[in-house]
Amino acid sequence: MSGNEWVYIKDCLDTNWVSYAGPYVDRFERELAAKAGSAHAVAVSSGTAALHMALILAGVGADDEVIMPGLTFVAPANAVRYCGAWPVFTDIRADDWQWDVGLVAEFLDAGCGMRDGRLVNKATGRRIAALLSVHLLGGMGDVEAVAELAARYELPLIEDAAECLGATYKGRPVGAPIPNDKGPLRLVITSFNGNKIITTGGGGAILTEDSATAVRARHLTTTAKADQIEFEHDEVGYNYRMTNIAAALGVAQLEHLEGYVERKRNIAARYAGVFCGTGITVHPEPAHCASTFWMYTVQTTGRARPVIDRLNDRGIQARPIWRPLHRLTPYSGCFVATGMDVADDLCERCVSLPCSVQISAGEQEAVGAHLLENVSSA
Ligand SMILES: Cc1ncc(COP(=O)(O)O)c(C=O)c1O
Repeated sequence: MSGNEWVYIKDCLDTNWVSYAGPYVDRFERELAAKAGSAHAVAVSSGTAALHMALILAGVGADDEVIMPGLTFVAPANAVRYCGAWPVFTDIRADDWQWDVGLVAEFLDAGCGMRDGRLVNKATGRRIAALLSVHLLGGMGDVEAVAELAARYELPLIEDAAECLGATYKGRPVGAPIPNDKGPLRLVITSFNGNKIITTGGGGAILTEDSATAVRARHLTTTAKADQIEFEHDEVGYNYRMTNIAAALGVAQLEHLEGYVERKRNIAARYAGVFCGTGITVHPEPAHCASTFWMYTVQTTGRARPVIDRLNDRGIQARPIWRPLHRLTPYSGCFVATGMDVADDLCERCVSLPCSVQISAGEQEAVGAHLLENVSSA
Protein backbone atom coordinates (compact mmCIF):
# COMPACT_ATOMS: atom_id res chain seq x y z
CA MET A 1 0.00 0.00 0.00
CA SER A 2 2.25 2.80 -1.15
CA GLY A 3 0.17 5.20 -3.23
CA ASN A 4 -3.41 6.44 -3.51
CA GLU A 5 -5.04 3.56 -1.60
CA TRP A 6 -6.09 5.72 1.39
CA VAL A 7 -7.30 8.57 -0.80
CA TYR A 8 -9.54 6.44 -3.01
CA ILE A 9 -10.98 4.37 -0.16
CA LYS A 10 -11.68 7.52 1.85
CA ASP A 11 -13.52 8.84 -1.19
CA CYS A 12 -15.81 5.75 -1.10
CA LEU A 13 -16.53 6.30 2.59
CA ASP A 14 -17.04 10.04 2.18
CA THR A 15 -19.51 9.54 -0.67
CA ASN A 16 -21.22 6.43 0.78
CA TRP A 17 -20.51 4.38 -2.38
CA VAL A 18 -19.31 1.29 -0.54
CA SER A 19 -21.09 -1.61 -2.16
CA TYR A 20 -21.49 -3.20 -5.60
CA ALA A 21 -22.34 -0.02 -7.46
CA GLY A 22 -20.05 2.99 -7.65
CA PRO A 23 -17.62 4.84 -9.86
CA TYR A 24 -14.52 2.87 -8.82
CA VAL A 25 -15.95 -0.43 -10.07
CA ASP A 26 -16.39 1.01 -13.58
CA ARG A 27 -13.03 2.76 -13.44
CA PHE A 28 -11.22 -0.36 -12.23
CA GLU A 29 -12.78 -2.40 -15.04
CA ARG A 30 -11.74 0.17 -17.66
CA GLU A 31 -8.19 0.59 -16.38
CA LEU A 32 -7.68 -3.12 -15.80
CA ALA A 33 -8.88 -3.96 -19.33
CA ALA A 34 -6.43 -1.41 -20.73
CA LYS A 35 -3.48 -2.85 -18.74
CA ALA A 36 -4.43 -6.46 -19.45
CA GLY A 37 -4.85 -5.78 -23.18
CA SER A 38 -8.47 -6.92 -23.35
CA ALA A 39 -11.56 -5.15 -24.64
CA HIS A 40 -13.57 -5.75 -21.43
CA ALA A 41 -12.99 -6.62 -17.78
CA VAL A 42 -15.72 -7.70 -15.38
CA ALA A 43 -14.71 -7.24 -11.73
CA VAL A 44 -15.87 -9.89 -9.25
CA SER A 45 -15.38 -10.85 -5.62
CA SER A 46 -12.55 -13.38 -6.09
CA GLY A 47 -10.50 -15.21 -8.67
CA THR A 48 -12.44 -18.34 -7.77
CA ALA A 49 -15.74 -16.56 -8.53
CA ALA A 50 -14.23 -15.42 -11.85
CA LEU A 51 -13.32 -19.03 -12.67
CA HIS A 52 -16.78 -20.29 -11.74
CA MET A 53 -18.40 -17.61 -13.87
CA ALA A 54 -16.08 -18.24 -16.82
CA LEU A 55 -16.93 -21.96 -16.75
CA ILE A 56 -20.66 -21.13 -16.68
CA LEU A 57 -20.21 -18.71 -19.59
CA ALA A 58 -18.36 -21.48 -21.45
CA GLY A 59 -21.36 -23.77 -21.03
CA VAL A 60 -19.72 -26.26 -18.66
CA GLY A 61 -22.40 -28.26 -16.85
CA ALA A 62 -23.09 -31.29 -14.73
CA ASP A 63 -21.11 -34.41 -15.56
CA ASP A 64 -18.97 -32.67 -18.16
CA GLU A 65 -15.20 -32.87 -18.00
CA VAL A 66 -12.68 -30.03 -18.14
CA ILE A 67 -9.02 -30.73 -18.96
CA MET A 68 -6.57 -28.85 -16.74
CA PRO A 69 -3.06 -29.10 -15.26
CA GLY A 70 -2.71 -31.47 -12.31
CA LEU A 71 -0.38 -29.16 -10.38
CA THR A 72 -1.80 -25.80 -9.36
CA PHE A 73 -3.62 -24.09 -6.52
CA VAL A 74 -6.89 -25.91 -5.88
CA ALA A 75 -9.25 -23.08 -6.93
CA PRO A 76 -9.61 -23.97 -10.63
CA ALA A 77 -10.48 -27.58 -9.80
CA ASN A 78 -12.99 -26.39 -7.20
CA ALA A 79 -14.64 -24.10 -9.75
CA VAL A 80 -15.06 -27.06 -12.13
CA ARG A 81 -16.80 -28.99 -9.34
CA TYR A 82 -19.07 -26.00 -8.54
CA CYS A 83 -20.48 -26.57 -12.06
CA GLY A 84 -21.07 -30.25 -11.28
CA ALA A 85 -18.35 -31.08 -13.82
CA TRP A 86 -15.14 -33.09 -13.30
CA PRO A 87 -11.54 -32.02 -13.77
CA VAL A 88 -9.29 -34.26 -15.89
CA PHE A 89 -5.67 -33.81 -14.85
CA THR A 90 -2.60 -33.85 -17.08
CA ASP A 91 1.06 -33.27 -16.22
CA ILE A 92 3.18 -30.17 -16.58
CA ARG A 93 6.57 -29.60 -18.21
CA ALA A 94 9.86 -30.23 -16.44
CA ASP A 95 11.70 -27.40 -18.20
CA ASP A 96 9.45 -24.38 -17.70
CA TRP A 97 7.02 -25.68 -15.00
CA GLN A 98 3.99 -24.81 -17.17
CA TRP A 99 1.15 -26.95 -18.56
CA ASP A 100 2.40 -29.61 -20.99
CA VAL A 101 0.25 -28.88 -24.03
CA GLY A 102 1.82 -31.77 -25.97
CA LEU A 103 0.36 -34.21 -23.43
CA VAL A 104 -3.06 -32.57 -23.70
CA ALA A 105 -2.88 -32.98 -27.49
CA GLU A 106 -1.99 -36.67 -27.09
CA PHE A 107 -4.90 -37.23 -24.72
CA LEU A 108 -7.38 -35.43 -27.00
CA ASP A 109 -6.10 -37.44 -29.96
CA ALA A 110 -5.86 -40.92 -28.43
CA GLY A 111 -7.98 -40.76 -25.27
CA CYS A 112 -11.01 -38.91 -26.65
CA GLY A 113 -13.33 -39.45 -29.59
CA MET A 114 -16.56 -38.23 -31.15
CA ARG A 115 -19.77 -39.87 -29.95
CA ASP A 116 -23.23 -38.59 -31.01
CA GLY A 117 -21.62 -35.38 -32.23
CA ARG A 118 -19.85 -34.76 -28.88
CA LEU A 119 -16.21 -35.05 -27.95
CA VAL A 120 -16.04 -37.59 -25.11
CA ASN A 121 -13.37 -39.08 -22.90
CA LYS A 122 -13.27 -42.71 -24.09
CA ALA A 123 -12.47 -43.96 -20.57
CA THR A 124 -15.32 -42.21 -18.72
CA GLY A 125 -17.82 -41.56 -21.53
CA ARG A 126 -18.18 -37.96 -20.32
CA ARG A 127 -18.28 -34.94 -22.63
CA ILE A 128 -15.11 -32.85 -22.77
CA ALA A 129 -16.56 -29.36 -22.31
CA ALA A 130 -13.55 -27.03 -22.09
CA LEU A 131 -9.82 -26.57 -21.67
CA LEU A 132 -8.72 -24.79 -18.49
CA SER A 133 -5.15 -23.60 -18.89
CA VAL A 134 -3.57 -22.40 -15.64
CA HIS A 135 -0.47 -20.22 -15.91
CA LEU A 136 1.80 -21.09 -13.02
CA LEU A 137 3.94 -19.10 -10.56
CA GLY A 138 3.95 -15.84 -12.52
CA GLY A 139 4.99 -17.28 -15.88
CA MET A 140 2.75 -18.09 -18.83
CA GLY A 141 2.29 -21.40 -20.59
CA ASP A 142 2.20 -21.81 -24.34
CA VAL A 143 -0.83 -19.61 -25.01
CA GLU A 144 -0.88 -20.09 -28.79
CA ALA A 145 -0.45 -23.87 -28.66
CA VAL A 146 -3.37 -24.23 -26.22
CA ALA A 147 -5.55 -21.89 -28.30
CA GLU A 148 -4.72 -23.88 -31.42
CA LEU A 149 -5.86 -27.10 -29.66
CA ALA A 150 -9.05 -25.43 -28.43
CA ALA A 151 -9.81 -24.30 -31.99
CA ARG A 152 -9.02 -27.74 -33.47
CA TYR A 153 -11.42 -29.51 -31.07
CA GLU A 154 -13.89 -26.58 -30.96
CA LEU A 155 -13.55 -26.31 -27.21
CA PRO A 156 -14.00 -23.14 -25.17
CA LEU A 157 -10.74 -22.07 -23.56
CA ILE A 158 -10.44 -20.57 -20.10
CA GLU A 159 -7.05 -19.22 -19.08
CA ASP A 160 -6.36 -18.80 -15.39
CA ALA A 161 -3.98 -15.85 -15.17
CA ALA A 162 -4.49 -15.40 -11.40
CA GLU A 163 -0.76 -15.53 -10.79
CA CYS A 164 0.59 -13.65 -13.80
CA LEU A 165 -1.13 -10.29 -14.22
CA GLY A 166 1.64 -8.08 -15.60
CA ALA A 167 3.37 -10.89 -17.51
CA THR A 168 3.49 -10.91 -21.30
CA TYR A 169 3.48 -13.63 -23.95
CA LYS A 170 5.24 -12.60 -27.19
CA GLY A 171 5.02 -9.06 -25.83
CA ARG A 172 1.24 -9.22 -25.37
CA PRO A 173 -0.37 -8.81 -21.93
CA VAL A 174 -2.42 -11.66 -20.44
CA GLY A 175 -5.84 -10.59 -21.75
CA ALA A 176 -4.74 -9.58 -25.24
CA PRO A 177 -6.40 -11.41 -28.13
CA ILE A 178 -4.40 -14.13 -29.86
CA PRO A 179 -3.80 -13.28 -33.53
CA ASN A 180 -5.83 -15.54 -35.88
CA ASP A 181 -7.47 -17.36 -32.96
CA LYS A 182 -10.21 -19.57 -34.42
CA GLY A 183 -11.47 -21.03 -31.13
CA PRO A 184 -15.17 -20.76 -30.18
CA LEU A 185 -14.58 -18.78 -26.94
CA ARG A 186 -11.59 -17.61 -24.92
CA LEU A 187 -11.95 -16.13 -21.44
CA VAL A 188 -9.06 -15.08 -19.23
CA ILE A 189 -9.46 -14.65 -15.49
CA THR A 190 -7.24 -13.13 -12.86
CA SER A 191 -7.17 -12.69 -9.07
CA PHE A 192 -6.53 -9.81 -6.67
CA ASN A 193 -6.24 -11.88 -3.52
CA GLY A 194 -3.89 -10.46 -0.88
CA ASN A 195 -1.00 -12.63 -2.04
CA LYS A 196 -1.21 -11.57 -5.70
CA ILE A 197 0.90 -9.01 -7.52
CA ILE A 198 -1.73 -6.34 -6.90
CA THR A 199 -4.62 -6.74 -4.46
CA THR A 200 -8.14 -5.53 -3.79
CA GLY A 201 -8.17 -7.41 -0.47
CA GLY A 202 -10.16 -10.12 -2.24
CA GLY A 203 -11.22 -9.93 -5.83
CA GLY A 204 -10.95 -11.19 -9.36
CA ALA A 205 -11.88 -10.36 -12.92
CA ILE A 206 -12.99 -11.94 -16.17
CA LEU A 207 -11.28 -10.55 -19.27
CA THR A 208 -12.97 -10.91 -22.64
CA GLU A 209 -13.00 -9.50 -26.15
CA ASP A 210 -16.71 -10.05 -26.53
CA SER A 211 -19.04 -7.29 -25.29
CA ALA A 212 -22.09 -9.60 -25.11
CA THR A 213 -20.12 -11.98 -22.86
CA ALA A 214 -19.09 -9.07 -20.61
CA VAL A 215 -22.70 -7.89 -20.36
CA ARG A 216 -23.88 -11.39 -19.48
CA ALA A 217 -21.09 -11.81 -16.92
CA ARG A 218 -22.11 -8.54 -15.21
CA HIS A 219 -25.74 -9.67 -15.24
CA LEU A 220 -25.06 -13.12 -13.78
CA THR A 221 -22.69 -11.78 -11.11
CA THR A 222 -25.32 -9.30 -9.87
CA THR A 223 -28.00 -11.96 -9.16
CA ALA A 224 -29.32 -11.79 -12.77
CA LYS A 225 -31.56 -8.88 -11.80
CA ALA A 226 -33.40 -7.92 -14.96
CA ASP A 227 -35.05 -4.71 -13.73
CA GLN A 228 -33.61 -1.74 -11.82
CA ILE A 229 -36.63 -1.49 -9.51
CA GLU A 230 -38.65 -4.70 -9.67
CA PHE A 231 -37.25 -7.92 -8.21
CA GLU A 232 -37.25 -9.56 -11.59
CA HIS A 233 -34.46 -12.18 -11.90
CA ASP A 234 -34.38 -13.97 -15.23
CA GLU A 235 -31.78 -16.68 -14.42
CA VAL A 236 -30.13 -18.28 -11.42
CA GLY A 237 -27.68 -15.50 -10.62
CA TYR A 238 -24.72 -15.06 -8.29
CA ASN A 239 -23.73 -12.44 -5.75
CA TYR A 240 -20.20 -12.22 -7.13
CA ARG A 241 -19.72 -8.52 -7.95
CA MET A 242 -16.71 -6.59 -6.66
CA THR A 243 -17.49 -3.80 -4.18
CA ASN A 244 -16.66 -0.14 -4.80
CA ILE A 245 -14.26 -0.16 -1.80
CA ALA A 246 -12.37 -3.15 -3.20
CA ALA A 247 -12.31 -1.55 -6.64
CA ALA A 248 -10.97 1.72 -5.16
CA LEU A 249 -8.09 -0.26 -3.69
CA GLY A 250 -7.68 -1.93 -7.08
CA VAL A 251 -7.48 1.39 -8.96
CA ALA A 252 -4.72 2.54 -6.60
CA GLN A 253 -2.88 -0.79 -6.85
CA LEU A 254 -3.07 -0.83 -10.65
CA GLU A 255 -1.01 2.36 -10.60
CA HIS A 256 1.85 0.23 -9.17
CA LEU A 257 1.56 -2.76 -11.50
CA GLU A 258 4.50 -2.08 -13.81
CA GLY A 259 6.69 -0.98 -10.89
CA TYR A 260 5.88 -4.14 -8.92
CA VAL A 261 6.57 -6.38 -11.93
CA GLU A 262 9.93 -4.69 -12.41
CA ARG A 263 10.77 -5.24 -8.74
CA LYS A 264 9.70 -8.91 -8.91
CA ARG A 265 11.90 -9.43 -11.96
CA ASN A 266 14.83 -7.79 -10.17
CA ILE A 267 14.24 -10.04 -7.16
CA ALA A 268 14.27 -13.08 -9.47
CA ALA A 269 17.49 -11.93 -11.13
CA ARG A 270 19.15 -11.44 -7.74
CA TYR A 271 18.15 -14.91 -6.52
CA ALA A 272 19.36 -16.39 -9.81
CA GLY A 273 22.76 -14.74 -9.16
CA VAL A 274 22.88 -16.07 -5.58
CA PHE A 275 22.20 -19.65 -6.73
CA CYS A 276 24.35 -19.60 -9.86
CA GLY A 277 26.66 -22.64 -9.97
CA THR A 278 25.30 -24.16 -6.72
CA GLY A 279 23.26 -27.05 -8.17
CA ILE A 280 19.98 -25.36 -7.24
CA THR A 281 17.60 -25.08 -10.22
CA VAL A 282 16.35 -21.52 -10.35
CA HIS A 283 12.82 -20.44 -11.29
CA PRO A 284 12.58 -20.85 -15.08
CA GLU A 285 11.21 -18.22 -17.42
CA PRO A 286 9.12 -19.86 -20.16
CA ALA A 287 9.90 -19.23 -23.84
CA HIS A 288 8.05 -16.23 -25.33
CA CYS A 289 7.13 -15.04 -21.83
CA ALA A 290 8.25 -12.13 -19.69
CA SER A 291 7.35 -13.57 -16.29
CA THR A 292 6.38 -11.66 -13.16
CA PHE A 293 8.08 -14.38 -11.05
CA TRP A 294 5.06 -13.94 -8.78
CA MET A 295 6.12 -16.68 -6.34
CA TYR A 296 9.86 -17.16 -6.66
CA THR A 297 10.57 -20.89 -6.46
CA VAL A 298 13.69 -23.03 -6.68
CA GLN A 299 14.18 -26.77 -7.10
CA THR A 300 16.60 -28.52 -4.79
CA THR A 301 18.43 -31.77 -5.52
CA GLY A 302 16.88 -33.58 -2.53
CA ARG A 303 13.60 -33.39 -0.63
CA ALA A 304 12.32 -29.86 -0.06
CA ARG A 305 10.42 -30.46 3.15
CA PRO A 306 13.36 -30.65 5.62
CA VAL A 307 14.88 -27.55 4.04
CA ILE A 308 11.57 -25.66 4.36
CA ASP A 309 11.24 -26.70 8.00
CA ARG A 310 14.73 -25.48 8.82
CA LEU A 311 14.23 -22.17 7.04
CA ASN A 312 10.92 -21.71 8.89
CA ASP A 313 12.74 -22.43 12.18
CA ARG A 314 15.00 -19.49 11.37
CA GLY A 315 11.99 -17.23 10.75
CA ILE A 316 12.32 -17.40 6.95
CA GLN A 317 8.93 -17.95 5.39
CA ALA A 318 9.81 -20.62 2.82
CA ARG A 319 6.91 -22.69 1.51
CA PRO A 320 6.30 -25.92 -0.41
CA ILE A 321 4.46 -25.69 -3.72
CA TRP A 322 1.05 -27.27 -4.22
CA ARG A 323 0.36 -30.93 -3.85
CA PRO A 324 -0.69 -32.52 -7.19
CA LEU A 325 -4.47 -32.20 -7.22
CA HIS A 326 -5.24 -35.91 -7.69
CA ARG A 327 -3.52 -36.46 -4.32
CA LEU A 328 -6.05 -34.24 -2.51
CA THR A 329 -9.01 -36.04 -0.93
CA PRO A 330 -11.79 -34.32 -2.94
CA TYR A 331 -9.96 -35.05 -6.22
CA SER A 332 -8.51 -38.48 -5.55
CA GLY A 333 -11.15 -40.17 -7.71
CA CYS A 334 -10.73 -37.88 -10.72
CA PHE A 335 -9.48 -39.04 -14.09
CA VAL A 336 -5.72 -38.60 -14.49
CA ALA A 337 -5.02 -38.68 -18.21
CA THR A 338 -1.21 -38.78 -18.15
CA GLY A 339 1.64 -39.70 -15.84
CA MET A 340 2.16 -37.13 -13.11
CA ASP A 341 5.91 -37.58 -12.71
CA VAL A 342 6.83 -33.93 -13.20
CA ALA A 343 4.09 -32.68 -10.85
CA ASP A 344 5.17 -35.19 -8.20
CA ASP A 345 8.83 -34.34 -8.61
CA LEU A 346 8.27 -30.57 -8.37
CA CYS A 347 6.10 -31.05 -5.30
CA GLU A 348 8.83 -33.12 -3.70
CA ARG A 349 11.74 -30.80 -4.46
CA CYS A 350 10.51 -27.22 -4.85
CA VAL A 351 10.79 -24.43 -2.29
CA SER A 352 9.08 -21.05 -2.68
CA LEU A 353 11.17 -18.28 -1.20
CA PRO A 354 10.29 -14.89 0.29
CA CYS A 355 9.86 -12.52 -2.66
CA SER A 356 7.63 -9.67 -1.57
CA VAL A 357 8.28 -6.42 -3.44
CA GLN A 358 9.65 -5.00 -0.17
CA ILE A 359 12.42 -7.58 0.29
CA SER A 360 15.91 -6.06 0.38
CA ALA A 361 19.05 -7.33 -1.36
CA GLY A 362 20.57 -8.16 2.02
CA GLU A 363 17.52 -10.18 3.05
CA GLN A 364 17.65 -12.11 -0.23
CA GLU A 365 21.31 -12.90 0.29
CA ALA A 366 20.55 -14.13 3.82
CA VAL A 367 17.72 -16.34 2.51
CA GLY A 368 20.06 -17.72 -0.16
CA ALA A 369 22.84 -18.43 2.35
CA HIS A 370 20.48 -20.26 4.74
CA LEU A 371 18.98 -22.26 1.90
CA LEU A 372 22.38 -23.36 0.62
CA GLU A 373 23.57 -24.25 4.12
CA ASN A 374 20.47 -26.35 4.74
CA VAL A 375 20.45 -28.00 1.33
CA SER A 376 24.02 -29.22 1.87
CA SER A 377 23.22 -30.53 5.36
CA ALA A 378 19.77 -32.05 4.46
C1 LIG B 1 -3.92 -20.27 -10.19
C2 LIG B 1 -4.93 -19.69 -9.27
N1 LIG B 1 -6.22 -19.67 -9.65
C3 LIG B 1 -7.17 -19.16 -8.87
C4 LIG B 1 -6.88 -18.63 -7.64
C5 LIG B 1 -8.00 -18.16 -6.78
O1 LIG B 1 -8.08 -16.79 -6.64
P1 LIG B 1 -8.84 -16.19 -5.36
O2 LIG B 1 -8.01 -16.48 -4.16
O3 LIG B 1 -8.91 -14.73 -5.69
O4 LIG B 1 -10.18 -16.83 -5.31
C6 LIG B 1 -5.54 -18.61 -7.20
C7 LIG B 1 -5.08 -18.06 -5.91
O5 LIG B 1 -5.58 -17.47 -5.08
C8 LIG B 1 -4.55 -19.17 -8.03
O6 LIG B 1 -3.26 -19.20 -7.64
